[in-house]
Amino acid sequence: MDINKVLLLGGSGFIGAYVVNRLSQRGIEVTVPTRRRERTKALIMQPGVEMPEADINCPKTLSELARGHDAVINLVGILHGRDFAKAHVELPKKIIAACAAAGIRRLVHMSALKAEAKAPSAYLASKGEGEALVRAAGETLDVTIFRPSVVFGLGDAFLSRFACLLKSSPIFPLGFGQARFQPVWVADVADAIVDCLGDAATFGQTYDLAGLKVYTLRQLVDYVRQLSGGTARVIALSDSLAYVQAGLMSLAPKPWLSPDNLRSMKVDNVSDGSRQPANWRPAALEAIAPTYIARQTPKGKLDGFRFRAGR
Ligand SMILES: NC(=O)c1ccc[n+]([C@@H]2O[C@H](COP(=O)([O-])OP(=O)(O)OC[C@H]3O[C@@H](n4cnc5c(N)ncnc54)[C@H](OP(=O)(O)O)[C@@H]3O)[C@@H](O)[C@H]2O)c1
Repeated sequence: MDINKVLLLGGSGFIGAYVVNRLSQRGIEVTVPTRRRERTKALIMQPGVEMPEADINCPKTLSELARGHDAVINLVGILHGRDFAKAHVELPKKIIAACAAAGIRRLVHMSALKAEAKAPSAYLASKGEGEALVRAAGETLDVTIFRPSVVFGLGDAFLSRFACLLKSSPIFPLGFGQARFQPVWVADVADAIVDCLGDAATFGQTYDLAGLKVYTLRQLVDYVRQLSGGTARVIALSDSLAYVQAGLMSLAPKPWLSPDNLRSMKVDNVSDGSRQPANWRPAALEAIAPTYIARQTPKGKLDGFRFRAGR
């Protein structure tokens, strides 16, 4: 199957930037509708990238946007707020309808590891519902679904945020420290998405995208503390205090933690390895994290100079 032009929804975010980059490098034209074009100037500098300002939640707009493309990739997702059903269930429904209206068969959909309708958090439950809809559309469309664990890399809101907090505050209160994750590098995720586009073996498949190793949240925070030179004391919170902390943080204009996030952490974010893409060889966290977390420390800067000087 030849894929020359892709409609990328949710392409203005963290993972989207890497997917746009990969598509552009492979000479695949990409349309990335966005709500705020001014925030995405770096993406539009790349060859073959168009970024129209559009409301993709309007079915008519979505169908018009879809026309003339060979495939749709849906990366739209939210971690906070009340609009989970709108973003994770209603939008996939509209995307399936827009594909049918525009005569597009190929749909790649981003879900999340451990998404399922009965999951304890609204995020995972709505992702599970959306995933089930897309899977059911596999009767008429060539669908591939990806379920990543937490994604790390330059520009992430995960390890980078820990690094920032560990450096800027004397204490780092941490709830759910025993929650388990299998972090996966954003570039590996983007490659999997772009590699599958024309590969008929991936049609109708659902893949977990997980990294090499499993870590507890506490291990990740300690690792970032060591890499970033952060001095904050990490203080373990009981579950009830963690919910109080998350409840307060969710009131911020741009929250980065909510009680719903904690409910997600009740489920191990770990893959059993039975549903990974063919030839899946993810990068080690320890090979990548120092390249963007340790950069700002004196040792990190020195390592950077050495690296660039080839020593
Ligand atoms: N990052 C992770 O660790 C991780 C792990 C598992 C699964 N995922 C999934 O991977 C996907 C991409 O994640 P990400 O980290 O790149 O997220 P992100 O940086 O927050 O980007 C999300 C994208 O979705 C768009 N979006 C959100 N709500 C929308 C709405 N109501 N209407 C239109 N567009 C909307 C955003 O557009 P604007 O720029 O206009 O806001 C942005 O382009 C999501 O589906 C996420 O659930 C991510």
